[in-house]
Amino acid sequence: MAPAPRVTLRPFTPHDAPLLTRWDGDPEVRKWMGKGLRECPPPRRDPVHNSRTRRVLAIDCDETTVGYVVLDHINWTTRSVEIRICIGEASYRNRGIGQETIAELLCLLRRLRLHEVYLRVDPDNVRAVRCYEKCGFRKEGILRKSRAMASDLLLMSLRFP
Ligand SMILES: CC(C)(COP(=O)(O)OP(=O)(O)OC[C@H]1O[C@@H](n2cnc3c(N)ncnc32)[C@H](O)[C@@H]1OP(=O)(O)O)[C@@H](O)C(=O)NCCC(=O)NCCS
Repeated sequence: MAPAPRVTLRPFTPHDAPLLTRWDGDPEVRKWMGKGLRECPPPRRDPVHNSRTRRVLAIDCDETTVGYVVLDHINWTTRSVEIRICIGEASYRNRGIGQETIAELLCLLRRLRLHEVYLRVDPDNVRAVRCYEKCGFRKEGILRKSRAMASDLLLMSLRFP
């Protein structure tokens, strides 16, 4: 496989919001981003809502905005954060860009001294699980279907030394 193009992360802006409408129409995004958590993915509700505990970043690649990353439930006391990633542009999937994005993101999180990173993923989302494992995330266990979650979810995490 050719080396993945370089990605950059920047704040998601109102200018980017129309992209979400298009990406939301993609069957894979619908399948994997909305399935597990009963809450809507936050970018769909309010794409540019940032707070002390939440940040939304756009993923740029080849001068194209290809997706977004949400940093959620940032806990500045325990220095932990949940991440959610979506390569919305289908033609940019499976080219190593997910792994590049996470590498960039981990550099940023290190600078912010957020040492504990976790995510929830549908265990059937084999590509995503593979991508996260290759970036150093370890499987922690299965969160079982509940009122808050429409299906079982796999919890994965990574801790910086
Ligand atoms: C999941 C996602 C972030 C991964 O990013 P990506 O750029 O497509 O993934 P990458 O190319 O970096 O890595 C995928 C890896 O899985 C492998 N893979 C892909 N499909 C696979 C399959 N069906 N079975 C096993 N491995 C698979 C790829 O070969 C690659 O591994 P490799 O580097 O050893 O070749 C992206 O595909 C995406 O956003 N998908 C839609 C929304 C989504 O699922 N988000 C995640 C919600 S938790």
